[in-house]
Amino acid sequence: MLEEMKVKKNEPLGEHLYHLVLKGAIAQEAQPGQFVHVQVSKSYDPLLRRPLSIARISPEEQEITVLYRVQGRGTALLTESMPGSRLSVLGPVGRGFRIPAAGELWLVAGGIGSFPLYALAAAARERGVKVRLFWGGENAAFLAAAGLESWQELGVEVQPATMDGSLGHLGLITEVLAQHLSKLKEDNFQKPGLTVTAAACGPNGMLKAVAAQCAAAGLPLEVSLEERMGCAVGACLGCVTTVRDQEGSVRRAKVCKDGPVFRGEEVVWDGD
Ligand SMILES: Cc1cc2nc3c(=O)[nH]c(=O)nc-3n(C[C@H](O)[C@H](O)[C@H](O)COP(=O)(O)OP(=O)(O)OC[C@H]3O[C@@H](n4cnc5c(N)ncnc54)[C@H](O)[C@@H]3O)c2cc1C
Ligand code: FES
Repeated sequence: MLEEMKVKKNEPLGEHLYHLVLKGAIAQEAQPGQFVHVQVSKSYDPLLRRPLSIARISPEEQEITVLYRVQGRGTALLTESMPGSRLSVLGPVGRGFRIPAAGELWLVAGGIGSFPLYALAAAARERGVKVRLFWGGENAAFLAAAGLESWQELGVEVQPATMDGSLGHLGLITEVLAQHLSKLKEDNFQKPGLTVTAAACGPNGMLKAVAAQCAAAGLPLEVSLEERMGCAVGACLGCVTTVRDQEGSVRRAKVCKDGPVFRGEEVVWDGD
């Protein structure tokens, strides 16, 4: 649906990150993993809308939360939208995550890849699912600004990794994941029947590594992909990526319509 959503809040969080709360009917339809396509300017410059994930969904309040990083001109213009003003929003767009009903959910995020995973974590926690977040970022200040505390308030066990060692493991989040996957292998031996599923969002290099790790450990994984977007309705082919179906044939898929969430094993990563 195309809606003029009301801006309730649009505030800086630090580290070039912003917290945007929008009010409107889109909140009643939104599912974890879907995104909104936002017109960032009242003029036609820039012409293209900007895709932003839905980080929180509150159907009762008719509110969605979007967390965004100022990346270029479009997101810089978005910071100028004042509370009380309206933004033209297309959404909710795309296919979201499957929400597990039992067991454990392991989330792997690189930087702002945590944003779409938050709505999934909230939905899974509501169903009583235990959630762990493996989250890699530049440093402790980034993770704090990007919402570390709100993850902990949700009851999620957070395993952080930072590039400067200011919080958690010093190095890559995939190294932390590797340790936990080997522990899971031992635990599974002791507790047969423990169901763990995984979801990830972040830079493509990280997603490719996580997909390989989860495939080797036999963990079902979903990944949320990012591509530059034009229409976000499946018409312009601006967002295509390559996927492989279960029979092994390769085809082009639209990230806006067929995704942004795909099964880890169906994505054909660069260099594959
Ligand atoms: C499905 C989806 C969900 C997203 N969710 C979020 C979110 O929740 N929060 C958030 O901060 N960002 C999110 N993004 C990325 C966001 O859309 C881009 O940062 C934004 O469009 C940049 O617009 P801009 O005009 O500020 O920058 P531009 O001036 O257009 O570009 C600045 C720089 O960012 C790069 N860039 C622009 N768009 C993308 C993109 N889609 N993917 C990768 N690199 C890009 C450009 O190559 C360039 O180097 C999402 C993208 C997709 C596809
Ligand atoms: S953005 Fe136009 S087809 Fe996906």
